[in-house]
Amino acid sequence: PLVSMKDMLNTAKDQGYAVGQFNLNNMEYTQAILQAAEEEKSPVILGVSEGAARYMGGFKPVVTMVESLIEAYGITVPVAIHLDHGSSFEKCVEAMYAGFTSVMIDGSHHPLQENIAITKQVVDVAHVIGVSVEAELGRIGGQEDDLIVDDAEAAYAIPSECDELVRETKVDCFAPALGSVHGPYKGEPNLGFDRMQEVSELTGVPLVLHGGTGIPTADIQKAISLGTAKINVNTENQISSAKRVREVLDENPEMYDPRKYLGPAREAIKETVMDKMREFGSSNKA
Ligand code: G3H
Ligand code: ZN
Repeated sequence: PLVSMKDMLNTAKDQGYAVGQFNLNNMEYTQAILQAAEEEKSPVILGVSEGAARYMGGFKPVVTMVESLIEAYGITVPVAIHLDHGSSFEKCVEAMYAGFTSVMIDGSHHPLQENIAITKQVVDVAHVIGVSVEAELGRIGGQEDDLIVDDAEAAYAIPSECDELVRETKVDCFAPALGSVHGPYKGEPNLGFDRMQEVSELTGVPLVLHGGTGIPTADIQKAISLGTAKINVNTENQISSAKRVREVLDENPEMYDPRKYLGPAREAIKETVMDKMREFGSSNKA
């Protein structure tokens, strides 16, 4: 059933594991991620960026597709449908109106007081209808859809500012930018664990780690031990599914039926997601 992230993430934080946010790109992603969650008996967060929603026809078509697949597959684990990097108050409300159970308002490119004001506006609406809210401070580097942050712009979150934002907005979870990057890493990731601990202790809310693709397991475990309860993964599924499509088409140059190459791609996504759920410790927690 569709639920907000609130209970999911508080339980995960208390019990020392993280729930994966896996981004939707099309129907095959949705099928693969829901089936992986059910087989692993894991709670799951379906992340939808504004760009991905546009690709799939808008927020409402995505919600309708998710709801009908949940019913058709008899999914019993908790599922949240979450707007990833919401760019404005208006977009967040639009997503909630379409049936999203959770939204991220990404005000990280604004000065602190503006970020707080816009985040608070979203929380005020969301909490009335039981929708959970994620906010971001600092700037996560790399590229995701429309969101491009180059190395010079990427910035670590300042713990005292994080405390102020979480306290004043009452967000349900919080993403401090601490060196993680959207898309593949150039070299080894260098996460600011000292600040992560500080932010976790100051704010008390479940923390979110963006740019989950390519982070070594030891770092994942360390982040979870320091209060990270949600980890976002998109690129890794895109890489594993694209690789599978290439293999199948290379081996079968005459193939043209999309089900014959997107079916294997869907299988690759499912395997990747199941691996992540085990790595994050969310398997058998639903
Ligand atoms: O918001 C989405 C994630 O942070 C995805 O990051 O594509 O590097 O796995 P990733
Ligand atoms: Zn992100």
